[in-house]
Amino acid sequence: MIEVKNLIKEFEGRVVLDDISANFQKGAVNMIIGKSGSGKSVFLKCLVGLIRPTSGEIRYGGRNFLAMKNREMKRLRRDMGMLFQGSALFDSKTVLENVMFPLDVFSRKNQRERRKRAEFCLERVNLLDAADLFPSEISGGMMKRVAIARAIALNPKYLFCDEPNSGLDPKTSQMIDELIQDITRDFNMTSLVVSHDMNSVMNIGDYILFLNEGIKEWEGSKEHIMDSDNDKLNDFVFASDLFKKIKEADAIITGNEANEENRKKLIQRMEEEAKDL
Ligand SMILES: Nc1ncnc2c1ncn2[C@@H]1O[C@H](COP(=O)(O)OP(=O)(O)OP(=O)(O)O)[C@@H](O)[C@H]1O
Ligand SMILES: [Mg+2]
Repeated sequence: MIEVKNLIKEFEGRVVLDDISANFQKGAVNMIIGKSGSGKSVFLKCLVGLIRPTSGEIRYGGRNFLAMKNREMKRLRRDMGMLFQGSALFDSKTVLENVMFPLDVFSRKNQRERRKRAEFCLERVNLLDAADLFPSEISGGMMKRVAIARAIALNPKYLFCDEPNSGLDPKTSQMIDELIQDITRDFNMTSLVVSHDMNSVMNIGDYILFLNEGIKEWEGSKEHIMDSDNDKLNDFVFASDLFKKIKEADAIITGNEANEENRKKLIQRMEEEAKDL
């Protein structure tokens, strides 16, 4: 579990994260959502140690991250897999070499074992066939999958993903989302996924933290997100026309006491409509 307490980050006196507290559970996909500029990336960077918060506490399995000495922090960082905006693969390395890279740097295993581990990770993201290709020879969705394979190479306890499906088409996005969910469950990781895509939230979010202008405006599960009465959250969630329609339809149908079956049908019809947009 990751515990965050009263986290504040200021840049030159400007508050970007304002007293955020949250707990992120093991084996769950924890999502950080919010508009552009709301502080999602800064929050993630504080958690992995790329940005030093102004004040507050971050605890990994009870251990105080910000008070750690260099050696302890390095050891903890080895337990963190990261997937940042853009895949950041090495162009001059093959897919397999990219996945082997963290193992080459951090692992004490011999070459054969490192290769085996990298192949296992590539297999997990269904890309073993592409092992010898270079990043320039594969699609954007495949690059993300390589980046995921690389992120899990060291068998991390914590997985951080910043907008893992930005720039991908809806179908590929969904595949990446589901891959993140699957590996989170399979390896019992604590995953934090930053997104501003409501489809991802409804698809894989176990816990959702909604940031608005650096403030924790709402937290909860996706089952409750649709009927929240928080205006800022509703503005964000229903910014997309489709979700607004669903909410309205939901209200009408619930008012008529129609059954779940009808509601599903209506949502399905709207989703089909949305495909043609
Ligand atoms: N290194 C920095 N120095 C000063 N201000 C920064 C720095 N990094 C981020 N900010 C500011 O902090 C605020 C939050 O930025 P952040 O990148 O966390 O937003 P975000 O929610 O990730 O947005 P997006 O969805 O566009 O990625 C922004 O106003 C940004 O300008
Ligand atoms: Mg960001």
